Parts: sequence; C-alpha cells; structure tokens
Amino acid sequence: MRTPLIAGNWKMNGDLALIDEFADALGAAALPQGVQVALALPFPYLSAARERLPATVLLGAQTLNPAESGAFTGEVAGSMLKDVGMTLVLVGHSERRSLYGEDDAAVLARVNAALASGLTPVLCIGEALEEREAGESERVVLGQLEAVFSELSAEARARLVVAYEPVWAIGTGRTASPEQAQAMHAAIRARLGEWSASLADAMQLLYGGSMKAANAAELLAQPDIDGGLVGGASLQVDEFLAICQSAG
Ligand code: G3H
Repeated sequence: MRTPLIAGNWKMNGDLALIDEFADALGAAALPQGVQVALALPFPYLSAARERLPATVLLGAQTLNPAESGAFTGEVAGSMLKDVGMTLVLVGHSERRSLYGEDDAAVLARVNAALASGLTPVLCIGEALEEREAGESERVVLGQLEAVFSELSAEARARLVVAYEPVWAIGTGRTASPEQAQAMHAAIRARLGEWSASLADAMQLLYGGSMKAANAAELLAQPDIDGGLVGGASLQVDEFLAICQSAG
C-alpha cells in the first residue's frame, strides 16, 4: 500500500499570517492516520514555517538551483533548503518550464541536485491543451518522465515522487476527470514498471490541476492516484484540510 500524500503549492502567495493560520489549524486537526501532508512555500517563509508548523507536516521549496554554491545571484541551493529543515522540493513545475525556460535537461539537473542534497524531488510532468487535443498527451508526459528517469540509477529513481499536472487544468478550474487522470497515472505507472515492478508499485503518483475539496475524493479514489499537488485550494486552510481528510 502506498502512503497518500497531499502537498500544497502556495506558488508566489501567502505570508506569515497564513503560516500561523495553517500552524493553528494543522496543530488542532485530527488528520487521517497515515496521510502525509506537505507544503511547498516561497523561500522567505521556509524557516518560519519549519519553526511554526507541526513536525509531521513535510515542508519544501518550489525550485532550486542545480549548482552546489557560487556566484548565482538570487538563486538557492539544495543544501540551503536542507539546512533549514526542508525535506522536499518541486522540480519541473509547468510554470518553471513555461515561464523560466526550464527544459528537460534543466529539470534533470535540478532533480540530481535535490537528490545530492538529500531532498525528495517532486517531479512535475504534464501536457498542454494543444498537445491533449492533438492526441499527444501520453507521448509528451512519458517523454518528460523518461528524460529524467532514464538518467537515474535504480536507487535514485526510488527516491522521487511524481506529480501529473495537465497544464490545461492548472489554475483554470477545469479539473481532469477522474477517468482522464487515472488513465494517465496508469500509463505513468506502467512505464515505471518497465524499469522495475517494485519501483512502479511503490511510487507515489500525485494529481495536480484544480484539485479542491469538492473533487478530491473522487480523484483520490482512483487506484493509481496516490495524492494531490494542490495550488489555489492550498491557500485556504479549510479547503486544504478537507482535501487531506479525503485522502484518508
Ligand atoms: O502545483 C500545483 C498545481 O499547479 C495546481 O494548481 O490547484 O491552482 O490548479 P491549481
């Protein structure tokens, strides 16, 4: 059995007051046994969040620089994230790919940097609307998966989490149907199985794209959907907690 994981991605939103609101609510909530809860926050809030949120809440950043250190003004290294108590980092989010030009090679470099720092990379993959309409979804998504996984050792592959996020469903209110999401998750798991059956069996596959309290239960009930990467709904504590409850 895979452990369900609900990860919130605040993107460039939130403030210390929201962290306190989450700290109070998550501290008081009786979350379902065995559900992992995580938040990926903007860099300035990571240390405060680690101090204020319950230790059971996993924390991470939304990107990292592939280098270990050096003259990279404005950038943050994996070792720095580890130093302030982070356990995970998003890599290859579609906004990083489309707005900041991160191609498959850049994504792979960041996955390797995260692994070298002892962080769990949450590898985000997903097709654009034109690609879905052209019947290219699976080719694009599995291509993004292969660009990273084919370059990793068996030991490294087992340390990732994969998030399938159809770009057309991100921030649009247009969620993939449970059937569409399940079909892609099954394809991803089948491809992982070509590397190793135990890898496929153990891999946490998250769905992201307009997940909210009202649709989470149906998505999370799909056999190959092990959790969610939640954007907008992770900024509202009640919504986020309701999604976490649905994962139990
Ligand atoms: O990382 C989260 C995803 O981009 C989903 O965002 O829930 O606002 O659609 P969303």
